[in-house]
Amino acid sequence: MDKIDEIMYQFIDELGYDRASEIFRNVSSGKKLRSKLLLKIVGESEESLRLCAIIELIHLASLLHDDVIDNSDTRRGKPSINATFGTKRAIMLGDILYSKGFYELSKFDPKIAQNISDAVCKLSIGEMMDVELSRDFNTDKEAYRTMIYYKTAVLIEATAAVGANLTGLDEEKFRNYGKNLGLAFQLIDDILDITQDAQTLGKPNLSDLKEGKVTLPYIYLYENLGDEDRGRLMNLFKAELNSAQIDWVKSKMSRTSSIERSIKEAKELGKKALESIAQYNISELDHMVSSMIDREF
Ligand code: FPP
Ligand code: MG
Repeated sequence: MDKIDEIMYQFIDELGYDRASEIFRNVSSGKKLRSKLLLKIVGESEESLRLCAIIELIHLASLLHDDVIDNSDTRRGKPSINATFGTKRAIMLGDILYSKGFYELSKFDPKIAQNISDAVCKLSIGEMMDVELSRDFNTDKEAYRTMIYYKTAVLIEATAAVGANLTGLDEEKFRNYGKNLGLAFQLIDDILDITQDAQTLGKPNLSDLKEGKVTLPYIYLYENLGDEDRGRLMNLFKAELNSAQIDWVKSKMSRTSSIERSIKEAKELGKKALESIAQYNISELDHMVSSMIDREF
């Protein structure tokens, strides 16, 4: 993964603007799920590492913009770029990262470039869907599922498809693997926002509800509450929660099995991912699903 960081730094340094390079070095580069996926499918080469760096640059750009949109002060346990350098620089650095990413992507085969750029259009639509859904307390599960597919799963789906394309494997099967892996990933992320403490999360606990994001566990919770408790839950929407309110949400989540149901759905998605490529017996890709699902909730 260090090699990918090096290529990303080199790409940005090539632009010759020191301030951009300097701010970029303050961006934490993260788990690199998409790169791990691509390398597990195609193996390591100069070309695949370059493609990983491009995908990570675009992903990091989207997170820079997302932290501005969500007004997030922390990312991966560190102050976000918007918190440290201000929103203007976070937005512009995001623009630099994705523009350079697309420039480098244009050197690849058009099929690969189109797969990735189409995914980034959808990713942006997904973020807009997220913003729209966050206006009111959303209780529509299908709208939530569509939104997380666009916002998160499409880029993972495209990464898997591109990997299959580069190695002559069945693109549709790998696309399906990536899609379900991506959906499970976002669903688990949304569950962890409720179940994990702030220190482990690297951001405040239950921040989704505060940001107006009614994720699947909250929709299940809403469906299983009586009128009075529904009203109470709605009052917490977009609010700064105190510890008594956090405890109330968590105990209601537990009494209504809302977390368990969501975990079950994530596991079903994981199973679908595994089934899509079962014939290939690639244990590392199986492991990717299981290590994501069998986490400490
Ligand atoms: C994180 O979601 C956000 C995304 C996965 C996608 C963000 C996409 C954009 C801002 C579109 C713009 C794209 C480019 C290339 C500039 P989250 O807020 O649910 O998760 P978090 O807890 O990690 O913030
Ligand atoms: Mg966010």
